[in-house]
Amino acid sequence: MNDVGGPTIFDRVLRPLHRWIWSDAHRRGRKLLTFSETEAEGGRDISRAAELTRDPALRRLYLRHAEDEARHAELFRRRGRSLLAGLPRRGEVAEVNWLTPGERGLDDLRVDERNEETLLAFLHLSEKAAVVRFNVYLDVLRGDPDTGAVFARILEDEAFHMSYTRKQLARIAPRTQGLRLLQARASRIWKAYLRVAVALAALMGGALLSLQYFVLLPPFALLAKRAARREEEGLQPARPPPALESQY
Ligand SMILES: [Fe+2]
Ligand SMILES: [Fe+2]
Repeated sequence: MNDVGGPTIFDRVLRPLHRWIWSDAHRRGRKLLTFSETEAEGGRDISRAAELTRDPALRRLYLRHAEDEARHAELFRRRGRSLLAGLPRRGEVAEVNWLTPGERGLDDLRVDERNEETLLAFLHLSEKAAVVRFNVYLDVLRGDPDTGAVFARILEDEAFHMSYTRKQLARIAPRTQGLRLLQARASRIWKAYLRVAVALAALMGGALLSLQYFVLLPPFALLAKRAARREEEGLQPARPPPALESQY
């Protein structure tokens, strides 16, 4: 386990669910490909942050960070593809990404809209969450040492990202660092709430549609069948058109 602290209570309670989600090799492969996209997108955003910053030390760190995320994308993509290549083709599989996301936070980066302090606070919390989460995945992936090795390798970089963002925040905002972290935490909680609300709404929408399908449609199908039985078979002569009495 990494020295950032163990998994959250939420993750501990949901550990059996994490185990179940990662136990399916097909889902595992698909999730790694999705993780790869998040890492690649995050790497591009952090490159943009390197372009925008006026601080030379931060520029160097952002560039290294962006390279790391691009490498993570490649590692996840390669492992995901090799997993899927060895499996028979299958249709869609639920990835349950709202519960077992990748490096969440990188997908929410708005580099152009954030100032340096806010960006560092947000990055720090995202990287910290990734370290805790990837440790949980590493733990439930004991049956797949190759995928576990990918997470272990990536975790080393994520721990560095977590610590440099914290140190740099303390350097550039010694007096407001606590406030920035508080604001970033509130923003993450709000986004987490929105994600759960959207997932629940989708679940309820699906349940309501199924209910309509099984409860409302059968009487209509029955009525249609009865009407069809009353129809005579074969072609019927057309009804005569109504008499034309005016041009309207
Ligand atoms: Fe990463
Ligand atoms: Fe990272």
